[in-house]
Amino acid sequence: MLAGYICHLQPGGAVLDVGCGQGILLRRLPEPAYSSYVGIDVSPSAIATAQERQPGNSTFVAADCEVYVPSGNFDVLVFNEVLCCLREPLLTAERYARSLNPGGLLLVSLCTAARGSATVLWQLKRAFTPVDEVRITHAGRNVSWVCAALRGPGAGPPATGA
Ligand SMILES: C[S@@+](CC[C@H](N)C(=O)[O-])C[C@H]1O[C@@H](n2cnc3c(N)ncnc32)[C@H](O)[C@@H]1O
Repeated sequence: MLAGYICHLQPGGAVLDVGCGQGILLRRLPEPAYSSYVGIDVSPSAIATAQERQPGNSTFVAADCEVYVPSGNFDVLVFNEVLCCLREPLLTAERYARSLNPGGLLLVSLCTAARGSATVLWQLKRAFTPVDEVRITHAGRNVSWVCAALRGPGAGPPATGA
């Protein structure tokens, strides 16, 4: 889902994937969808796996995202199923958002079963400009995931409809 958001809402830019795990998102991104990609994850073994299949213009870093300071600016920030693992999810998202280029995109996926996910989503929607949101439900297991696209600073006022 988040790869689709990149392709359709903000293709061709610099992507920072926070909590990238084994690099699954990058493997799903067609190369024209990004100009550069940085993935960071606290797990050295996940990063080692991600580095086994690493296309050009991509970098993987083993680091705690609540400490790591990104270098450079990005067009897309991704937090795919990681915010609810963090001590300070909103502060972390806001700190990374300072590295977003004007009008850049913040993409978030949260499992609604994760503790605090509803609060985190609500806080994000107050702090950033919502662009789109999709909820995917596994009916059999009664679990949902929310995928949200939000604009960072410089996005202008939210659309008000006709
Ligand atoms: C559910 S996995 C999601 C992985 C990946 N985003 C994906 O969708 O395939 C959560 C990931 O967050 C990472 N993580 C948890 N806390 C972290 C932290 N403080 N800094 C960086 N990564 C963290 C874990 O190591 C794990 O790879």
